[in-house]
Amino acid sequence: MATALILLAAGQGSRMNSELPKVLHQIGNAPLFAHALHAGGALDPTRTVIVVGHGADAVASQALSLDEDIIIAHQDEQLGTAHAVLQAKEALADFEGDAYVLYGDTPFISAETLEKMQTARTQHDVVVLGFEAAHPGRYGRLVMDGDTLLHIVEFKDATEEERSITLCNSGVLCADAKVLFDLLSEVGNDNAAGEYYLPDVIKIARSKGLSATTVSCNEAETLGVNTRTELAFAESLFQRAKRTEMLENGVTLVAPETVFFSLDTYIGRDAIIDPNVVFGPNVTIESGARIKSFSHLEGCHVSTGADAGPFARLRPGAELGNDAHVGNFVEIKNAQIGEGTKVGHLAYIGDADIGDGANIGAGTITCNYDGVFKHRTTVGRDAFIGSNTMLVAPVNVGIEAMTGSGSVITKDVPNGALAIARAKQDNKPMLAVKLFQKLRALKAKKTEEG
Ligand code: UD1
Ligand code: CA
Repeated sequence: MATALILLAAGQGSRMNSELPKVLHQIGNAPLFAHALHAGGALDPTRTVIVVGHGADAVASQALSLDEDIIIAHQDEQLGTAHAVLQAKEALADFEGDAYVLYGDTPFISAETLEKMQTARTQHDVVVLGFEAAHPGRYGRLVMDGDTLLHIVEFKDATEEERSITLCNSGVLCADAKVLFDLLSEVGNDNAAGEYYLPDVIKIARSKGLSATTVSCNEAETLGVNTRTELAFAESLFQRAKRTEMLENGVTLVAPETVFFSLDTYIGRDAIIDPNVVFGPNVTIESGARIKSFSHLEGCHVSTGADAGPFARLRPGAELGNDAHVGNFVEIKNAQIGEGTKVGHLAYIGDADIGDGANIGAGTITCNYDGVFKHRTTVGRDAFIGSNTMLVAPVNVGIEAMTGSGSVITKDVPNGALAIARAKQDNKPMLAVKLFQKLRALKAKKTEEG
């Protein structure tokens, strides 16, 4: 059975007090809306439609940068959740299969829960995701008769008796796409809010002899984000869950609560992550690598057996080969570091290709930027770059070549050559002693004069 995802993301989220549309606020360095889509990935959707309204252009462009096949549907006026889903009708006109309605501001729905809904769909025409609420508040209530969902009533429209129900509507539901759009076409807005309510499809389905049921999930999965405080809380829940997932996948976290991940962080088994490490977006760490304390990584790849830190900064495009070593106060950007190559201390390596088995001395800098253009540096395998070398790009240092400490390298260095590019040393016999005597005498005279 093919599945499609319909993600509602048209709301403004005025309680965020922000210029940014709510669903673009981030958890784990990914926009809120990306989290529900990530979970929805478990259903192998063949089509994904995102319904945008407030901040439509910004939301659409981020959605497309995540996945260029996402279809954007516009809801210009927010007339209610049923109206929002209806905006996806055209995009799914020729789609055959089940549609799942997800919410852009509800990031924690799990893949397992969606799979449970998929199973329930084999027995019922419409499946709604519900949860037992500790404080049911203003949630819609699910009115059940055994396994059968009779109808959903919004808090505003509910009787006292209905308000005492604690099984609440998460908003997430699934049905055959054609059936869903047929039902939606009959939803009216004659209710307390004057809105087109998605939950009304249940009553309409049952009037047509279709069956509906509820799958329950943990309340934590339905947690919505409406304020900055809730966003910060959601971030903490995300980090906690991601740490647990990492530990279960065989990653050693020495002090889990001090390590921060992104939604897309991937770390292989038996990697070791020391305390106080931050993983920005798009980082992959292979098995057996080690990231030492106080390192910050984004957009980079660390291969098996390599290590980085303490205090390493790996920026986008940094790739460490097997067994490479990157030490303290080293920044690497858009550069390949070869197998077994060492960049031990205090260096900046940007826009560079460093071969295997090379040694990059302390204080080495690739001078990659001339103020307008960026230029590349290449260093051949087994080369030795002396401490405090400035590699003024574009420049190539050959295989097994060497540079003298303190050199400013502006010309290519041939394979096997030693380049020395610094002022020659000139020793003046006994001049230091004479200079000291002169200075001390001067100081004594000044002290006498008061
Ligand atoms: C909805 C449900 C309620 C459920 C609750 C769970 C309805 C009528 N009620 O209420 O039963 O308990 O969710 O949180 O569905 N949206 C649009 N366009 C619109 C309206 C909403 O895209 O025209 C989006 C919002 O951005 C949001 C989601 O749909 O992501 C839910 O809308 P919201 O107004 O928050 O619904 P609730 O009142 O919370
Ligand atoms: Ca809501």
